Amino acid sequence: MKKILLIVAACAAFVLAAAQPVLRPDNIDEVLAAMTLEEKAALLVGGGKEFPGRYKGLPAGSTRSFERYGIPLTNLADGPAGVRVNHPCTGFPIGTLLASSWDTSLVEEVASAMGEEARAYDVGLLLAPGLNIHRNPLCGRNFEYFSEDPLLSGKMASAYVKGVQSHGVGATVKHFAVNNQESLRTTLDVRIGERALREIYLKGFEIAVREASPWAVMASYNQLNGDYTQQKKELLTGILREEWGFDGLVMTDWGFKAGTVKAVQAGNDLMEPGYDGEIRNILEAVKYGKLDVADIDRNARRVLEYIVKTPAFLGQPGSGAPDLEGHAKLSIRAAADGMILLKNDGILPLRAGAKIAVLDLSEKGFVAGGTGSGSIGKGGVTSLETALKKAGLENAEQADVAVVSIGRQAGEAKDRVLPDDFCLTEKERSLLEQACATYRKVVVVLNICGVVETASWKDLPAAILLPWAPGRDGAYAVADVLSGKVNPSGKLPMTFPVDYWDDPSSANFPSDSASIKPFVNYEEGIYVGYRYYSTVGKAVSYPFGYGLSYTSFDYSKPKVKLRSGVIEARITVKNTGSVPGREVVQLYVSAPSGGLEKPVRELKAFAKTRLLAPGEKETLVMRLTPYDLASYNEATSAWETAAGKYEFLFGASVEDIRATAAARLKKPQSWQVKRRCAPVAVIKEIKL
Ligand code: BGC
Repeated sequence: MKKILLIVAACAAFVLAAAQPVLRPDNIDEVLAAMTLEEKAALLVGGGKEFPGRYKGLPAGSTRSFERYGIPLTNLADGPAGVRVNHPCTGFPIGTLLASSWDTSLVEEVASAMGEEARAYDVGLLLAPGLNIHRNPLCGRNFEYFSEDPLLSGKMASAYVKGVQSHGVGATVKHFAVNNQESLRTTLDVRIGERALREIYLKGFEIAVREASPWAVMASYNQLNGDYTQQKKELLTGILREEWGFDGLVMTDWGFKAGTVKAVQAGNDLMEPGYDGEIRNILEAVKYGKLDVADIDRNARRVLEYIVKTPAFLGQPGSGAPDLEGHAKLSIRAAADGMILLKNDGILPLRAGAKIAVLDLSEKGFVAGGTGSGSIGKGGVTSLETALKKAGLENAEQADVAVVSIGRQAGEAKDRVLPDDFCLTEKERSLLEQACATYRKVVVVLNICGVVETASWKDLPAAILLPWAPGRDGAYAVADVLSGKVNPSGKLPMTFPVDYWDDPSSANFPSDSASIKPFVNYEEGIYVGYRYYSTVGKAVSYPFGYGLSYTSFDYSKPKVKLRSGVIEARITVKNTGSVPGREVVQLYVSAPSGGLEKPVRELKAFAKTRLLAPGEKETLVMRLTPYDLASYNEATSAWETAAGKYEFLFGASVEDIRATAAARLKKPQSWQVKRRCAPVAVIKEIKL
């Protein structure tokens, strides 16, 4: 009898299992139909802050597994300066340095190395790149982000996404959107006009989504015009999916928020890191008729569409052995490519065997990266002294040149401050003055995570190099640039103002912290960074796009042609100096008057030459479309490109225009948007 019962039970289990579809890329609907409501709700909620599996790691997140449907667990690990797991990984330069290279192929190569490391450690989604706009120099997380300019941010993010995803793992563009300060980031309401929102703060995401199809988008912590971005349907479904055609996964930033149901309805597919309370919220809402099962199915389908692409699903376990040696070399090369020479009276490059003194004024050691989730994983950091010694630059008592390093950390959850951070400390200032009085020449190395004040002291030293936080082995790249092994070719991706209070956002940063419902008004509207300084003609310490070289370049007469809807701009750059070097050409455009009010010039394209030998030339070709010239008209809810004469300015920085050409657009063009994302209240914006 017992035997018979056992056979019956086994048969029943077999029938049940046979009825259970096992997930394949082409049967997602069938699996969804078989899953219970409870299971689907759990699929929408991450598995907690664990990083389980063979390569247990630093906490980030995961998606849950459902063995009976063959749905594996997938891991989510942080970036952007490398894969942040508890295993040997490369500590790459910060995002701001990558953007300073203006070199999209290099960024793709770096991100491809990160993709390889992610793959090696069973990561399904890398939580990077971060591409929030540097609205204000004091945002604590600017180091993770690229630039004050949306085009540069978008192009860098696209290159990054393509690199990561070339290894069959996903990139996550974050934080969508307007997460431009860390203070009060989980409650803050950002109040912003729709034009500034779309042209400045969403544009980079639009470019990345359209050009690189990231697997995922992470909504930010903050609110946007009265709603949490993670619960805002106009943003996550209207703009992101319906307008831009995004077909991937949307997730929350890390933390439980009231409003799970609103997030599900808005098209936010995955709650991360995931709490059981969120599952309960979803189930209760269905029970009381407040949430449609169709919303759950739609989001669950997107989670499964992501899962079927992952190596975990495809049965491709990571090797655990990425090419760390190769990546360390790449990281140093990338770091050198993004370093910016701010000043040089001729002392750099240092002559071989030069006797130098190294003074680290920060007393904190070499700053390799920022802190928080964007920090690099564990591992020793090479000191500047070690790197300089290895490059044959001896540290000596009787030196006549001093390399003075000024360090600044920054990180998540905290904005920077003016005293002793944006500004030099009293101690740093007096040590710098002493060094300049003691040594024949002083070279300042700005080993920093964000913009600092330079106007009051930049006349003192003979040279200033800005290597940002260049990664774990980045000190070698500093040595390469100081010694002349590498000719610097980085350019500033943001403005260095004379005074912090010159910045148009400084009147509204970080926010009114005393308020119970904190908010910040983006009064400067579209006039962020150089758009403001160049339009009002305000002097800056170092302009956007600025950076020196050990050689010099000549720009030819440019050509701009409009052919079948594409504007093609060509210019030939010649190395007129005596050492090989690379040049970044920035294409700014001034629009005809008569259309919408615009900044005097805006970056619309850029290109970087290969390494040109002395006397060598290269023709750079940059392409853009009339849509790239459009501004958003709030009155008509359309992107509009006015007809008329456009000036194309080829610059070595926003202030150093080397050549110009003009082209005429005969007809105005406009593109109606599908969804508005208008502010609830009228936003006070400054008029220039
Ligand atoms: C950060 C995200 C990060 C996540 C997971 C959050 O606090 O804002 O950028 O990906 O933590 O670590």
